Amino acid sequence: MQKRRHIQKKILTTFHQFGYNEIQTPIFETLELFTAKSGQAIIDELYTFQDKGQRNLALRPELTAPVMRMYVEKLQMEPKPLKLFYFGQCFRYDRPQKGRYREFFQAGCELIGTNTPEAHAELIALAYTLLKNVGLKNITLKIGNLDLVQALFKHHHISDQQKQELLPLIDKEEFDELKTYLHNTTLTEQDIDEILHLLQTTDLSTITASFKKQKELTEELQKTQHIFTLLTDAFSIPTPEFHLSIVRGLDYYQGLVFEIEAPILGAEKQLCGGGTYSLIDLFGGTPTPTAGFAIGFDRTILALEEEHYHFPESTIDLYLIPVTPKTLPNTLHLAQQIRKQGYIVDIDLLQRGIGKALKHANTKNTTYAIIIGPDELKQNVITLRNMDTGKQQSIPTKELITTLNKIIPPTKETPLH
Ligand code: HAM
Repeated sequence: MQKRRHIQKKILTTFHQFGYNEIQTPIFETLELFTAKSGQAIIDELYTFQDKGQRNLALRPELTAPVMRMYVEKLQMEPKPLKLFYFGQCFRYDRPQKGRYREFFQAGCELIGTNTPEAHAELIALAYTLLKNVGLKNITLKIGNLDLVQALFKHHHISDQQKQELLPLIDKEEFDELKTYLHNTTLTEQDIDEILHLLQTTDLSTITASFKKQKELTEELQKTQHIFTLLTDAFSIPTPEFHLSIVRGLDYYQGLVFEIEAPILGAEKQLCGGGTYSLIDLFGGTPTPTAGFAIGFDRTILALEEEHYHFPESTIDLYLIPVTPKTLPNTLHLAQQIRKQGYIVDIDLLQRGIGKALKHANTKNTTYAIIIGPDELKQNVITLRNMDTGKQQSIPTKELITTLNKIIPPTKETPLH
C-alpha cells in the first residue's frame, strides 16, 4: 500500500493540476446501465447479482457509464466544461492473469461539454502526463479515429456482420488472422492490401492522403492533424503515433480514440484507454460532447516495478524512547506535541531498553531518536540522537521544537490539531 499510495497521490495531484475535480460513484449499479449500450452480450464479462428486492445489479466494470448516469441525474446544470476525475475499483468477469484481474483499480476522468481539438489535445496530454509524472520511462501514445475506420469499411462495402467479426481482430492487432478473414470475402487482392496497409501504418499523412477524396471526412482529418500538432508543439509529447487499428473494446466510442501502452509489460501492456463517446442521450440527458480515459492503476504499478522504479521507503522523523515506565506518560505527551508540528513520530511502546529500541528505530528508517530518562525528566531536557552519525546532544525540552524546525523540515502532511 505504501507503493500504491505514493503513486496514487501523484495521480490525484496531476488531475487537480489540470483543473479536474474528484467524483465518486457506487461500486454497484443497475445491470441495465451497462447493457443499455452494449446489449446482453456484455453480461458474460460482468459480475451480476440479484438483491433481495429482485433487482438486477452489477459490480461496475468501469466508471464512464456510472459518471454519465450521475451527470444526467445531478450535474447537468453545472458550468461547462465539466472536468471530473475518479479513482476506484472495477470488476470484470475476466480470466485472470498477470496484469488482468477480476478486481482492479482505475484512475480516470470525463470531460463534459466541449469537443474542440484543444480540449481533446489537453485530455490526451493529461493521460500522457499522468503516466510520465508517476515515473514511467517508456510509454507509447497511439491515437486512432473510429469515423475513419467506419469510412474504410463503408468504402469497401464491408457488412455490419463482417464488422463485428473484424473489429476484435483489429483491436488485438492480429493482422495474419485478419488477412485470412479478408481473403474469404469478395474483396480483391488490391483492396485487402490497401486495408492492411492503412491499418498498420503509423503515419498520419499516409492516412490523410488516402481519405482525402472523401469530403465528409475533411473536418475529422483536419481536427486529427490539429490535435497532433498541439500534442507535439504545445504539450511537447515527442512521438504520438497514429494507428487506425486502435478501435477500443467498448461500444460507446465515436471518432477520436487513444491508448497508451507500456511495451515492457508484454501481453497486457495497455495502461490507458479513452476517447470521445456518446452516452448522455441514451441516459435521457441533453446531448453534450463527452470524452475521457481511464488508466489501469495496477498495471501502472507493474510497469513501474518492471522498469525498476525506486519506490520511496516509509520513514520516521523522530522515534521517542522512554527509558523507564515512569517516563512513558511524559514521552507520550511530548510525541503528541511534536506530531502537532507536522512531524512523523513513533514511540517505543514495548520499553525494550535503549539498545534494542535504537535498533528498531533503525529498521524503521528513523532520522532522529529522542531519549527520555528519569534524570533528563528532572532537568527538563531530552537527548537528541542523529541516527546516521550516532551523535547525541542534550536539549532543553522547551527548545526542542525550535531545534527540530532548524534540522528537519516538517512533512507537508496536515499537522494534527
Ligand atoms: P478500458 O480500456 O476498458 O477503458 O480500461 C481502461 C484501462 O483499465 C485499461 O487500459 C487497463 O489498463 C485497465 N484494465 C482494464 N481491464 C483490466 C483488468 N481486468 N485488470 C487490470 N486492469 C484492467 C475503460 O474502462 C473506459 N471507461 C475508459 C474511458 C473513460 N473512456 C472514456 N472515458
